[in-house]
Amino acid sequence: MKTTIYYFSGTGNSLAVAAALARELQDPVEIVPLAARMKQRRIEVRADVLGFVCPTHFLTIPGIVKSFVGKLSLDSAPYIFSVVTCNSQPGRGLFVMDRLFRRKGQSMKLGCAVDMPGNSLIGMDFTNPPEVRSERLNNSRETIRRIARAVRERQASAPEGTDSPGVRLRSLLMRSFVRHIYRPAGAFRTGESCSRCGTCARVCPVGNIAPGESGPEWGDKCLYCLACLHWCPRHAIEMKRDTVGRLRYHHPDITADQIAAQSGVR
Ligand SMILES: Cc1cc2nc3c(=O)[nH]c(=O)nc-3n(C[C@H](O)[C@H](O)[C@H](O)COP(=O)(O)O)c2cc1C
Repeated sequence: MKTTIYYFSGTGNSLAVAAALARELQDPVEIVPLAARMKQRRIEVRADVLGFVCPTHFLTIPGIVKSFVGKLSLDSAPYIFSVVTCNSQPGRGLFVMDRLFRRKGQSMKLGCAVDMPGNSLIGMDFTNPPEVRSERLNNSRETIRRIARAVRERQASAPEGTDSPGVRLRSLLMRSFVRHIYRPAGAFRTGESCSRCGTCARVCPVGNIAPGESGPEWGDKCLYCLACLHWCPRHAIEMKRDTVGRLRYHHPDITADQIAAQSGVR
């Protein structure tokens, strides 16, 4: 029985959930960073159980996850499950995953959301205060156990979240606003406390940051995962003025090296 879990993660929540699921599933599980495979045109998968874990971005799944699923070539009909981590609003991401698999003639049997500490600092978003973070991390353990049980028993259920016209519209507006008006990718800057350590460049899952002699330089492939901003050991990175004085976050059990390992860029 072969189980493979593909993950994408900016601040470690989704990686921590993937790792915890793997432990709960007991069978040998291969955990694979999907960002490292993006250069391949076609990704052949041979697994009996196939899982995906990624964050919710703007009420849906990140574009890189959609592209990855589009490249998959499945030679059988594995038991497929997806998990989105979120800050209380999973939106339509699991419905989007479900549709992507149906287009491939496959069926996603289970789609679950895990409430985790939030990491968005875009616009009006704040990360959660420490007591909310602890509560969410504690509660997530039971949610992960429940999902693992469902996978072990090969359960089938409708995706969690909602795909209502209102959510679709909000998701579209949020993505358009960020991409065309707010444009965080052009708005990162470092303060004087930047030590040129290069952590931001290492943790970027798509290699979008050049460490540069006078400080990091961002390219135009930003996925808005905010790994650079949250993993900076000196909190020296700001995005517009919006992030000044706001709490940073990364999952307490995940390291910057683990996030860096997912890119396969360096
Ligand atoms: C750009 C961006 C958009 C986000 N949008 C949502 C959202 O629509 N709903 C939600 O519940 N959480 C949202 N979040 C929070 C993340 O989904 C959540 O913190 C997730 O667990 C982060 O996972 P990671 O640490 O694996 O990157 C967003 C985060 C970012 C960076």
